[in-house]
Amino acid sequence: MLKTVVCVSGGGTNLQAILDAVEDGSITNVKIEAVISNNAGAKALQRAENNGIPGILMAPKDYPDRESFNVAFTEEMCRLAPDLIVLAGFLVKIPEEMVRRFDGRIINIHPSLIPSFCGVGYYGLKVHEKVLERGVKVTGATVHFVNEGMDEGPIIAQKAVTVEEGDTPESLQHRVMEQAEWVLLPQAIDAIANGRISVQDGKVRCVRRMEEA
Ligand code: GRF
Repeated sequence: MLKTVVCVSGGGTNLQAILDAVEDGSITNVKIEAVISNNAGAKALQRAENNGIPGILMAPKDYPDRESFNVAFTEEMCRLAPDLIVLAGFLVKIPEEMVRRFDGRIINIHPSLIPSFCGVGYYGLKVHEKVLERGVKVTGATVHFVNEGMDEGPIIAQKAVTVEEGDTPESLQHRVMEQAEWVLLPQAIDAIANGRISVQDGKVRCVRRMEEA
């Protein structure tokens, strides 16, 4: 059973996709141990509570400085001792010590086709605003392992989504979530939990196709 901790900051629709997939059996061998958020008002924490999953608040603003937050956050994660950490719309930089200690066991979902529209400043709706500004015809989502960079870790999977005429950032965000994020993240978690995906020497190793049962 893969002990999993999910880190969130907002609405938690990706968390919900994971919970629904565990419920309907499209994710097997996984136990969501806890949900961590930096935002006490995150709807994602409500979703966790609705599913009987402990919510933990870890907010940088509750600490005298970022370094003491990083130490406390890393200590808490070590106490939870997950096999997998999932960043599902988590807007806080992961401490380098945590990346080191959980190397190869942290994944992130990003709402674009990395290496496009990613890195510092590219999160949430801003990504889709930049996609529309640039006029690209195809965007999508990427699930990747987390390393010490920002959105630079080994890519696990991507899914393309067409930009439609008249799209707003909101309509595009919803399509990318619905058609890509909420599909890719559960598939990646199930693949890792069942030994189809791993990362070694910075390269994703696929034993079988990610979406195979
Ligand atoms: C998603 O668009 C995700 O790709 C990005 O942040 C957003 C989180 O949405 N990292 P939610 O909290 O899962 O609804």
